[in-house]
Amino acid sequence: MESIDQALESLRGAFLPRFRAAATEQALRDENAKILGKKGELTAILKDLGKAPPESRKAIGEKANVVKKEVEAGFETCLRELRQKEREAELSAPPFDLTLPGRAPSGLGHKHPIAIVREEVVAVFRQLGFAVFDGPEIEHEVNNFTLLGFPPDHPATDMQDSFWTTSGHLLRTHTSNIQIRAMKSLKPPMAFIAPGTVYRRDDDATHSPMFHQIEAFLVDRHVTLAHLKGVLAEFAERLYGPGTPVRLRPSYFPFVEPGAEVDIGCVFCKQSDGTRKGCSLCKHTGWIEVLGCGMIHPVVFENCGIDPEQWSGFALGMGLERLAMLRYGIPNIKLLFENDPRFLAQF
Ligand code: PHE
Repeated sequence: MESIDQALESLRGAFLPRFRAAATEQALRDENAKILGKKGELTAILKDLGKAPPESRKAIGEKANVVKKEVEAGFETCLRELRQKEREAELSAPPFDLTLPGRAPSGLGHKHPIAIVREEVVAVFRQLGFAVFDGPEIEHEVNNFTLLGFPPDHPATDMQDSFWTTSGHLLRTHTSNIQIRAMKSLKPPMAFIAPGTVYRRDDDATHSPMFHQIEAFLVDRHVTLAHLKGVLAEFAERLYGPGTPVRLRPSYFPFVEPGAEVDIGCVFCKQSDGTRKGCSLCKHTGWIEVLGCGMIHPVVFENCGIDPEQWSGFALGMGLERLAMLRYGIPNIKLLFENDPRFLAQF
């Protein structure tokens, strides 16, 4: 009986240093099994209990149970400490291993068709000497409408047609606000292009409440409609290829006089000899409308503090969705905003 007690005592003094010496969780578990496992030291002692003299059996049994609990608690403590140490080591290690071999990318991204067309248009105008001018999407009513000569009861100024934020402010309905901002803050001559996002209460197969425009305008002495037409012809040829014809149809915008809509020869039904038969995309006319333009209205110059007797200029604005849809034969504008990788991967 004395030997059982001694065995318990020596185990009691030894288990913790043994646990502490274990460097890994597995080593700790192995050590634990050597004591508490089926063939473990404490298990053997407990099995021997029956050999103890009956009068001391109870006391030794109780002590054995206490030691067992101590061993179990010591194991749990050491396990927790070991895991904590591992976690700390993991956290203080470099975040990734620079020496690992690289993984092949799962697939490269694509430029969005709107971005492709925008970059092309901007590049063409930059080649022609235009600089980029930027402005806000939440705009004062005056810059979006009033100074551009919109009468207060013009339908575009209606709640039904535009997104108003607070009184006097709205999401700009076109990039023509940039004409006002540039002419109010700079002295002519100037030639700018302004790509940007615009908003209208419109939603169907060819209209989206948010879309993209590019504005271009030029102010100098003695600028005429001929300059405008020259820039348009150059633009059409550089974007759609040599020989692409341009025509102007009279139209109305409050901030230009005269104003026009511009068609280019349909790029879809063009034959190799340059003739156009007409197709469904150009509604069998051989022409496709691409933008609005005109000579900047004298009142707009006056509103911006520029003398219309000394300066003249032209402005034009086009929708990028329309250009992209024509360019790639995209039938529904929604495809441009869903960002489906199967669609985008085609460009
Ligand atoms: N801002 C006009 C629109 O959004 C387009 C335009 C720009 C027309 C410049 C004439 C001159 O419809």
